[in-house]
Amino acid sequence: MIIAIDGPAAAGKGTLARRVAEHFNLAYLDTGLLYRAVGKKVLDAGNDPEDAAAAETVARALNAQDLNADGLRVDAVAQAASKVSAVPGVRAALLDFQRDFAKTPPEGSNGAVLDGRDIGTVVCQEATAKLFITASTEVRANRRFKELHQADSGAIYARVLEDMKERDERDSSRSFAPLVPANDANVIDTSHLSANQVFDQALIFIATKTQKA
Ligand code: DC
Repeated sequence: MIIAIDGPAAAGKGTLARRVAEHFNLAYLDTGLLYRAVGKKVLDAGNDPEDAAAAETVARALNAQDLNADGLRVDAVAQAASKVSAVPGVRAALLDFQRDFAKTPPEGSNGAVLDGRDIGTVVCQEATAKLFITASTEVRANRRFKELHQADSGAIYARVLEDMKERDERDSSRSFAPLVPANDANVIDTSHLSANQVFDQALIFIATKTQKA
Protein backbone atom coordinates (compact mmCIF):
# COMPACT_ATOMS: atom_id res chain seq x y z
CA MET A 1 0.00 0.00 0.00
CA ILE A 2 1.40 3.40 -1.00
CA ILE A 3 -0.37 6.60 0.00
CA ALA A 4 0.67 9.86 -1.70
CA ILE A 5 -0.13 13.13 0.06
CA ASP A 6 0.66 16.41 -1.69
CA GLY A 7 -0.15 20.04 -1.09
CA PRO A 8 1.25 23.45 -0.18
CA ALA A 9 2.99 24.37 3.09
CA ALA A 10 1.02 24.26 6.35
CA ALA A 11 -2.06 22.71 4.74
CA GLY A 12 -2.01 19.78 7.20
CA LYS A 13 -0.18 17.15 5.12
CA GLY A 14 2.19 16.11 7.90
CA THR A 15 -0.55 15.74 10.52
CA LEU A 16 -2.63 13.63 8.15
CA ALA A 17 0.35 11.56 6.96
CA ARG A 18 1.32 10.63 10.52
CA ARG A 19 -2.22 9.56 11.34
CA VAL A 20 -2.58 7.55 8.15
CA ALA A 21 0.79 5.90 8.83
CA GLU A 22 -0.28 4.90 12.32
CA HIS A 23 -3.71 3.68 11.24
CA PHE A 24 -2.45 1.39 8.44
CA ASN A 25 0.97 0.62 9.96
CA LEU A 26 2.83 2.37 7.13
CA ALA A 27 6.33 3.87 7.15
CA TYR A 28 6.25 7.67 6.75
CA LEU A 29 8.59 9.83 4.68
CA ASP A 30 8.31 13.62 4.82
CA THR A 31 9.96 14.35 1.46
CA GLY A 32 10.18 18.09 2.23
CA LEU A 33 12.97 17.14 4.62
CA LEU A 34 15.12 16.00 1.68
CA TYR A 35 14.86 19.41 0.02
CA ARG A 36 15.30 21.17 3.35
CA ALA A 37 18.47 19.16 4.05
CA VAL A 38 19.87 20.12 0.64
CA GLY A 39 18.90 23.78 1.14
CA LYS A 40 20.53 23.89 4.57
CA LYS A 41 23.77 22.32 3.39
CA VAL A 42 23.99 24.80 0.51
CA LEU A 43 23.43 27.70 2.93
CA ASP A 44 25.91 26.30 5.46
CA ALA A 45 28.56 26.09 2.74
CA GLY A 46 27.98 29.78 2.02
CA ASN A 47 26.49 29.09 -1.42
CA ASP A 48 23.38 30.49 -3.11
CA PRO A 49 20.44 28.03 -3.20
CA GLU A 50 19.71 29.27 -6.72
CA ASP A 51 23.17 28.12 -7.84
CA ALA A 52 22.04 24.97 -9.68
CA ALA A 53 25.47 23.29 -9.80
CA ALA A 54 26.12 23.79 -6.06
CA ALA A 55 22.65 22.50 -5.16
CA GLU A 56 22.93 19.46 -7.40
CA THR A 57 26.33 18.50 -5.98
CA VAL A 58 24.89 18.58 -2.45
CA ALA A 59 21.78 16.60 -3.51
CA ARG A 60 23.89 13.84 -5.06
CA ALA A 61 25.88 13.42 -1.83
CA LEU A 62 22.88 13.53 0.55
CA ASN A 63 22.48 10.63 2.97
CA ALA A 64 19.73 9.49 5.33
CA GLN A 65 21.46 10.98 8.39
CA ASP A 66 21.25 14.46 6.87
CA LEU A 67 17.48 14.27 7.41
CA ASN A 68 18.05 14.36 11.18
CA ALA A 69 20.08 17.59 11.12
CA ASP A 70 19.05 20.38 13.52
CA GLY A 71 17.51 23.54 12.17
CA LEU A 72 15.69 22.08 9.15
CA ARG A 73 12.37 23.63 10.22
CA VAL A 74 13.35 27.31 10.20
CA ASP A 75 11.89 29.57 7.52
CA ALA A 76 15.23 30.50 5.93
CA VAL A 77 15.77 26.81 5.26
CA ALA A 78 12.22 26.43 3.90
CA GLN A 79 12.90 29.20 1.38
CA ALA A 80 16.26 27.64 0.44
CA ALA A 81 14.50 24.26 0.05
CA SER A 82 11.96 25.81 -2.28
CA LYS A 83 14.77 27.33 -4.38
CA VAL A 84 16.88 24.17 -4.66
CA SER A 85 13.75 22.15 -5.42
CA ALA A 86 13.27 24.09 -8.68
CA VAL A 87 16.59 22.69 -9.97
CA PRO A 88 15.84 19.63 -12.17
CA GLY A 89 19.17 17.96 -11.26
CA VAL A 90 18.30 18.20 -7.56
CA ARG A 91 14.91 16.58 -8.10
CA ALA A 92 16.45 13.83 -10.21
CA ALA A 93 19.09 13.13 -7.54
CA LEU A 94 16.43 12.71 -4.83
CA LEU A 95 14.03 10.59 -6.87
CA ASP A 96 15.56 7.15 -6.29
CA PHE A 97 15.70 7.61 -2.52
CA GLN A 98 11.98 8.42 -2.45
CA ARG A 99 10.99 5.60 -4.80
CA ASP A 100 13.11 3.07 -2.90
CA PHE A 101 11.44 4.13 0.34
CA ALA A 102 7.97 3.69 -1.21
CA LYS A 103 8.73 0.31 -2.78
CA THR A 104 10.86 -1.13 0.03
CA PRO A 105 9.64 0.43 3.27
CA PRO A 106 11.25 -0.67 6.54
CA GLU A 107 10.49 -4.24 7.56
CA GLY A 108 7.30 -4.82 9.51
CA SER A 109 5.27 -2.09 7.84
CA ASN A 110 2.42 -2.63 5.38
CA GLY A 111 3.68 -0.04 2.93
CA ALA A 112 4.51 3.64 2.91
CA VAL A 113 3.00 7.08 3.05
CA LEU A 114 4.97 9.93 1.48
CA ASP A 115 4.07 13.61 1.66
CA GLY A 116 5.39 16.41 -0.50
CA ARG A 117 4.58 18.32 -3.67
CA ASP A 118 4.97 15.80 -6.51
CA ILE A 119 4.38 12.41 -4.92
CA GLY A 120 1.17 11.66 -6.82
CA THR A 121 2.30 13.26 -10.07
CA VAL A 122 5.93 12.08 -10.33
CA VAL A 123 7.41 10.02 -7.49
CA CYS A 124 4.63 7.44 -6.97
CA GLN A 125 2.31 7.70 -9.94
CA GLU A 126 1.09 4.18 -9.16
CA ALA A 127 0.14 5.00 -5.52
CA THR A 128 -2.83 3.15 -4.06
CA ALA A 129 -4.49 6.46 -3.12
CA LYS A 130 -3.53 10.08 -3.77
CA LEU A 131 -4.65 12.94 -1.57
CA PHE A 132 -4.13 16.64 -2.24
CA ILE A 133 -4.40 18.64 0.98
CA THR A 134 -4.87 22.38 0.66
CA ALA A 135 -6.22 25.43 2.53
CA SER A 136 -6.48 29.14 1.85
CA THR A 137 -3.20 31.07 1.99
CA GLU A 138 -4.47 33.12 4.94
CA VAL A 139 -5.43 30.05 6.98
CA ARG A 140 -2.07 28.41 6.29
CA ALA A 141 -0.14 31.58 7.13
CA ASN A 142 -2.13 31.88 10.32
CA ARG A 143 -1.31 28.29 11.35
CA ARG A 144 2.37 28.85 10.61
CA PHE A 145 2.35 32.17 12.46
CA LYS A 146 0.88 30.54 15.58
CA GLU A 147 3.57 27.82 15.47
CA LEU A 148 6.33 30.39 15.08
CA HIS A 149 4.88 32.71 17.68
CA GLN A 150 5.21 29.96 20.30
CA ALA A 151 8.97 29.91 19.71
CA ASP A 152 9.54 33.57 18.87
CA SER A 153 7.06 36.18 20.09
CA GLY A 154 8.56 38.63 17.59
CA ALA A 155 7.15 36.73 14.59
CA ILE A 156 5.20 39.06 12.29
CA TYR A 157 2.06 37.75 10.55
CA ALA A 158 2.49 39.92 7.43
CA ARG A 159 6.00 38.55 6.95
CA VAL A 160 4.84 34.94 7.37
CA LEU A 161 2.05 35.54 4.81
CA GLU A 162 4.52 37.08 2.33
CA ASP A 163 6.97 34.17 2.72
CA MET A 164 4.13 31.68 2.24
CA LYS A 165 2.95 33.40 -0.95
CA GLU A 166 6.49 33.55 -2.31
CA ARG A 167 7.09 29.84 -1.66
CA ASP A 168 3.66 28.81 -3.07
CA GLU A 169 4.30 30.83 -6.20
CA ARG A 170 7.76 29.31 -6.75
CA ASP A 171 6.64 25.73 -5.99
CA SER A 172 3.59 26.00 -8.27
CA SER A 173 5.18 27.77 -11.22
CA ARG A 174 8.46 25.87 -11.65
CA SER A 175 8.64 24.06 -14.96
CA PHE A 176 9.75 20.70 -13.51
CA ALA A 177 7.34 18.76 -11.23
CA PRO A 178 5.32 21.78 -10.08
CA LEU A 179 2.83 21.61 -7.21
CA VAL A 180 -0.43 20.48 -8.86
CA PRO A 181 -2.99 17.86 -7.84
CA ALA A 182 -2.72 14.58 -9.76
CA ASN A 183 -5.76 13.94 -11.99
CA ASP A 184 -6.80 11.05 -9.78
CA ALA A 185 -6.17 12.81 -6.44
CA ASN A 186 -8.87 13.46 -3.87
CA VAL A 187 -8.62 17.17 -3.01
CA ILE A 188 -9.41 18.13 0.59
CA ASP A 189 -9.59 21.80 1.57
CA THR A 190 -8.76 21.89 5.28
CA SER A 191 -9.47 25.61 5.79
CA HIS A 192 -12.58 24.93 7.85
CA LEU A 193 -11.98 21.32 8.93
CA SER A 194 -10.53 19.86 12.11
CA ALA A 195 -7.67 17.34 11.92
CA ASN A 196 -10.20 14.60 12.78
CA GLN A 197 -12.51 15.62 9.94
CA VAL A 198 -9.61 15.61 7.46
CA PHE A 199 -8.55 12.17 8.67
CA ASP A 200 -12.11 10.81 8.34
CA GLN A 201 -12.44 12.13 4.77
CA ALA A 202 -9.06 10.67 3.85
CA LEU A 203 -10.01 7.24 5.26
CA ILE A 204 -13.23 7.21 3.25
CA PHE A 205 -11.32 7.98 0.07
CA ILE A 206 -8.60 5.41 0.78
CA ALA A 207 -11.31 2.81 1.40
CA THR A 208 -12.79 3.44 -2.06
CA LYS A 209 -9.36 2.72 -3.56
CA THR A 210 -8.43 -0.33 -1.50
CA GLN A 211 -11.84 -1.99 -1.93
CA LYS A 212 -11.45 -1.77 -5.71
CA ALA A 213 -7.96 -3.26 -5.57
O1 DC B 1 6.95 20.36 2.77
P1 DC B 1 8.06 21.37 3.14
O2 DC B 1 7.53 22.72 3.52
O3 DC B 1 8.97 20.82 4.18
O4 DC B 1 8.91 21.54 1.78
C1 DC B 1 9.97 22.46 1.67
C2 DC B 1 10.17 22.79 0.20
O5 DC B 1 10.66 21.62 -0.48
C3 DC B 1 8.93 23.21 -0.56
O6 DC B 1 8.75 24.63 -0.54
C4 DC B 1 9.15 22.69 -1.96
C5 DC B 1 10.11 21.54 -1.80
N1 DC B 1 9.50 20.22 -1.99
C6 DC B 1 9.36 19.77 -3.27
O7 DC B 1 9.64 20.51 -4.22
N2 DC B 1 8.88 18.51 -3.52
C7 DC B 1 8.54 17.70 -2.50
N3 DC B 1 8.10 16.46 -2.77
C8 DC B 1 8.66 18.16 -1.17
C9 DC B 1 9.13 19.44 -0.93
